[in-house]
Amino acid sequence: MVAAETTAGRLGTGGSILVRPGGPLSGAVTLQGAKNSVLKLLAATTLAEGTTTLRNVPAISDVESMGDLLVAMGAEVGRPAEGTLVVRTPADLVPEAPYELVERMRASIVVLGPLVARYGQARVSLPGGDDFGSRPIDLHVRALEHLGASISLVHGVVEARAPRGGLRGAGIVLEFPSVGATENALMAAVLARGTTVIDNAAREPEIADLAAFLNRMGARIVGAGSSTIQVEGVEELSPVEHSLIPDRIEAATFLAAVGVNGGEITLLGARADHMDLVTHKLGQMGMRISPCSEGLWAYSSGKLRSVDISTLPYPGVATDYKPLLVAMLAVADGVGIVTENIFSSGRFRYVDELGRMGAQIRTEGHHAVIRGRERLQGAPVRAHDIRAGAALVVAGLRAEGETEVTEAHHIDRGYERFVDKLRGLGADVERK
Ligand code: EPU
Repeated sequence: MVAAETTAGRLGTGGSILVRPGGPLSGAVTLQGAKNSVLKLLAATTLAEGTTTLRNVPAISDVESMGDLLVAMGAEVGRPAEGTLVVRTPADLVPEAPYELVERMRASIVVLGPLVARYGQARVSLPGGDDFGSRPIDLHVRALEHLGASISLVHGVVEARAPRGGLRGAGIVLEFPSVGATENALMAAVLARGTTVIDNAAREPEIADLAAFLNRMGARIVGAGSSTIQVEGVEELSPVEHSLIPDRIEAATFLAAVGVNGGEITLLGARADHMDLVTHKLGQMGMRISPCSEGLWAYSSGKLRSVDISTLPYPGVATDYKPLLVAMLAVADGVGIVTENIFSSGRFRYVDELGRMGAQIRTEGHHAVIRGRERLQGAPVRAHDIRAGAALVVAGLRAEGETEVTEAHHIDRGYERFVDKLRGLGADVERK
């Protein structure tokens, strides 16, 4: 097994993506494993000494970043085969996440819970992450404090310490069903003494996947995927093999692509049950989408109708779908109102980029009003974050002339072989 190299020179080296309009998309695309699942599973490998094997792992730069973080703490990380990631966790990991690594990716904060649970202490720099709005960690901190941890912020580093005898189970009521806070609480509770009940927990499929992984390791969790999760603490966990769930946001990205462009595609391995509301919305917009034996089948004539959409915690329409849906509404017939209920209004920044392509969008606070038009115009635009970048590529499929999406390294954080996969469906895209 080899230690992970640094990110430089592998993925995420920048560049841009060129997009030109073309004929209908057609064919099948195999979905990657879920980014927002694998990052947390990698954090959970710190809970047990030994060798963990993860399958269906996407080759994306966020996975490299989390791998680099594990290596910095003393683990070994290797990719013996495509889609397989192996992590060897030593008995004594250094429970510290340095700024250079944490600032690459906000999700690194989820190592705080498992580290303090297993090692009695942890030091994690305050995270950076996607370039949208302020993203506090107060809910993570309060949840761990309920389990008995003392937490302080010292020179930009969050320091957590367990009491003598370790964390103890407790009732935790989250003020908001935060995905990250639920995951941190869950990964801490599995090794706490006694029973923990997390109420108002996030219900995302990635939380259920994390719980399935932890249970396989020997944890005793029930209710993950619902609002109340109950955990009986255990003394020790063991490393296991686990295959990730498919990435529902990547799936929605290809649905948006075929939606604006027109065509007929199959998403191999998609879980229709993870995407109920978004596929329902896309149906209202005029697409035809059905579960099939291989995953999900979708057809679009390219003619879309506007709808109103509000983002909500799962099972609501995910905030991560929103830039894609806004790109679709920009070329739909009529006026649609999109309301953001999860993040601050900073998550509408890509709207200015779509405006450069001629999209007619007005934002006010948490709302965007989108007046659709037949076509957009190709233009140079900038990817501010993962999903916004993908949405600009999607918009380019329905724009006259060429669209150049710069800072494509943001897209590489979450999408494996994005350009190749789109080209495989017949899209005229290339990496520059
Ligand atoms: N929040 C707080 N305090 C906290 C934690 C969160 O106020 O302690 C607020 C946030 O500021 C935000 C809201 O609660 O307004 C939701 O945040 P949440 O904690 O649920 O999000 P997250 O765990 O930071 C994950 C995904 C995001 C996705 C959100 C919402 C990962 C790595 N990231 O973030 O995905 O947008 O849940 O579903 O799982 C992406 O994949 O591109 C991405 C950004």
